[in-house]
Amino acid sequence: MTKDLISEVIEDHNVVKDLICRYRKETDPKEQQKIANTIVRELSVHSATEEICAYPLIEKHLSDGKKIADKNREEHLQLKKDLYQLDSMKVPDEGYGDLFKRVIEEFEHHIQEEEKETYPKLKASLADDLLMKEGEKYEKTRNSVPTRPHPSAPDKPPFETAVGMVQAPVDKTYDQVRDFVETNRGKI
Ligand SMILES: [Fe+2]
Ligand SMILES: [Fe+2]
Repeated sequence: MTKDLISEVIEDHNVVKDLICRYRKETDPKEQQKIANTIVRELSVHSATEEICAYPLIEKHLSDGKKIADKNREEHLQLKKDLYQLDSMKVPDEGYGDLFKRVIEEFEHHIQEEEKETYPKLKASLADDLLMKEGEKYEKTRNSVPTRPHPSAPDKPPFETAVGMVQAPVDKTYDQVRDFVETNRGKI
């Protein structure tokens, strides 16, 4: 069922929050690795989809939107750099736990502002039917963006969309040899 843009974004955040809880409760490193792989994938997909679908709307419709979107893109970049490094390591490696903790802190800090300030402002600024239309676009875009972190790729459409179209199938091929856990967001 199609949801509005804000609900789509919040659902992405909730999937990652749930995966973090599962990682913390898990004691088997093999299972932890599957969960961590899924966190990397979900965060990569969420960041790219948000940059393509939501941040341009924030820029266009909020009075201080350009400043907010630029700050959010900067935080995404730091997160992507750390995810990239995390993705090159394995759960038992020295330093993995500290880096994982940093990624989680960055994510939690970032979404707190989005959920408490930015998206409520956007919801108040846009008509319900536009939010539904954008939600539909978000859902489609989610399935066509890269599934791995690419800190040096563009972070704005149209270039992010174009580069993503080329990168996404490469990432998805690589994903075939990685293990993931199920999420209620379904298969990407
Ligand atoms: Fe974000
Ligand atoms: Fe977000």
